[in-house]
Amino acid sequence: TQVYVLYGGKSVEHEISKRTALAIINALDKEKYDVYSIYINNEGIWCNTGKVTEELKELREGEVDVDMTPTLSLATVLQECFSPGREHVVIPALHGTYGEDGTIQGLLELIDVPYIGNGIMPSAIGIDKAMTKEIFSKVGIPQAEYVFFTIQEWRRRDSQIFEQIENKIGYPCFVKPAKLGSSVGVHRCQNRDELIEALKDAFTFDQKVVVDKEVIGREMQVAVIGNENPECSVAGEYILEKSFMDYNAKYVDGNLIPVIPAHIPDSLHKKMQEISQQAFQVLNGSGLMRVDFFVTEENDLYVNEVNTFPGFTGHSMFPALWEATNGMTYPEIIETFIDLAIE
Ligand code: DAL
Ligand code: MG
Repeated sequence: TQVYVLYGGKSVEHEISKRTALAIINALDKEKYDVYSIYINNEGIWCNTGKVTEELKELREGEVDVDMTPTLSLATVLQECFSPGREHVVIPALHGTYGEDGTIQGLLELIDVPYIGNGIMPSAIGIDKAMTKEIFSKVGIPQAEYVFFTIQEWRRRDSQIFEQIENKIGYPCFVKPAKLGSSVGVHRCQNRDELIEALKDAFTFDQKVVVDKEVIGREMQVAVIGNENPECSVAGEYILEKSFMDYNAKYVDGNLIPVIPAHIPDSLHKKMQEISQQAFQVLNGSGLMRVDFFVTEENDLYVNEVNTFPGFTGHSMFPALWEATNGMTYPEIIETFIDLAIE
């Protein structure tokens, strides 16, 4: 089987994707799979970065031809890599926009190449925090109070929107671009002035913004693997001094200490797993999903968001959760994803 790992991508999570992909590529058994890498740069230009036969220290970004357009580069890579009759599978090791959002999944469906992870719909819904919340609220998955609106709605009736936020959510609240990951563009606001500034910034990233009520509690995560009968890992928790997991805390400071399994009562653990499975199934998930929770002191649970292709470096929560659950190693998890993609 030929395995093609896509990395980079037109996303604010470009660099994180490179770390995820490097770990995946190094974990793939080169005796069992022919491993190839394909880089997508920040402008969406594709580059066939070739076969990988040994452990890499860093990923190649390839030579991008200045005359290349995204269309031409895509056509070239597709022609070079995906010929009919070959057995291949793609690992879209991409986070966020143009990768974790259903677009790549749609392309791969069109050309009939199997890929690991979620299909078009769960990806497209999962990337959009507003749509995810709407669906979860339909099936009673517990969530913090929220409102969402587009930039046009905000411009048309900003005073009404402020009232709505202040009545329904109150302060402090969190402003988030609907479709970004890794906490980019997320702000905690304590008053109207901060809210205005936060909205201005969030709208530079996205046409749609979600405002969440703050939940005072611990942040926990559950990793789901499977297709029709998904299984849930134990819950893990990050211990952190800052008031929420911002981009720097997550990826730069390295001052997050994972606690796996999280120290919580069994009943709560079971409840989180049930909710995670429900979240996966209502989104019609496949392969994998990470479900992120807040847990209050009273042990109330709130789903914060899902990631349909969560961070997957050697230090990421997802593989660590499964290792703690049943001893599965990182390479075994990736192999499981491949098996689930082609089953
Ligand atoms: N979106 C990042 C990669 C994560 O949640 O893991
Ligand atoms: Mg995320």
